[in-house]
Amino acid sequence: MFVQKLNDGIFIQKPVKTFHFTDETDIIDISCSSSDSLLSETDQHLCNDNCALIKVKEVLDPSFGMYVWPCAPVLGKYIWHNRKRLKDKVIIELGCGTGLISVLAAKCGAYPILTDSKKYGPVFKIAEENMKLNNIDCKDFEIQELTWGYITPFIIRNRPIDFILGSDVFYCPKDFEDLIVTVSYILKKSAGAEFWCTYEHRCSDWNIDYLLRKWDLCCREISLEDFGADRFSVAGHDLPGLKTISLFVFSYAK
Ligand SMILES: C[S@@+](CC[C@H](N)C(=O)[O-])C[C@H]1O[C@@H](n2cnc3c(N)ncnc32)[C@H](O)[C@@H]1O
Repeated sequence: MFVQKLNDGIFIQKPVKTFHFTDETDIIDISCSSSDSLLSETDQHLCNDNCALIKVKEVLDPSFGMYVWPCAPVLGKYIWHNRKRLKDKVIIELGCGTGLISVLAAKCGAYPILTDSKKYGPVFKIAEENMKLNNIDCKDFEIQELTWGYITPFIIRNRPIDFILGSDVFYCPKDFEDLIVTVSYILKKSAGAEFWCTYEHRCSDWNIDYLLRKWDLCCREISLEDFGADRFSVAGHDLPGLKTISLFVFSYAK
């Protein structure tokens, strides 16, 4: 663990984590690595038809986006399972946090637009660092501020996209409608686009059915079993909340 100075202050950086996406059961134990990494430098950047190894820096900070949430490897597993669909596609990641999902999307041949809110600390800095750490060239991705519920010039001008990706973005009920408005706006502009989202069940009272109808969206749940995420360890990491995570695919309903 070491201390790093970012633009907005000093942060404690945690050891770099490595996530391992493959079609096989997650057999390699690489849960945490730093200078004493279990994998060689070359291996850690590996991405081929059979597996992707992704490094992520996290920061000890109360901001939501500075570490990888348990939903992220589950969404990553779904992306990996559907990687052929992402090739040469444009994706927007909402609430990108550390950027793990966008790194993986880029490794699958997509052009990711990472977005988050400036309200939540220097999240863009850590996301950009993680893109570079995984050798994603700066011409192959972009980072934009996107606070849910705001229709900003970026979102108005932006070209149609193919997929929206969001890991653990439904976590604060006061933001649910803002998030759904943003998703609905983008999906309406992008015929055939889908929103892939992992959700951690935190409260049985939460329900978005009414908001989906109001903003012309429909959604279907994909069983974790269908893409090999129905286990305690996903992408080389133990998931304490695995049984409470679901994956949903949203689309425009009209
Ligand atoms: C629970 S964290 C998940 C981070 C990351 N997707 C992951 O799974 O590791 C939620 C993310 O949404 C972002 N966020 C929260 N409220 C937001 C808002 N109103 N507009 C845009 N992003 C927001 C946070 O900054 C954070 O990165």
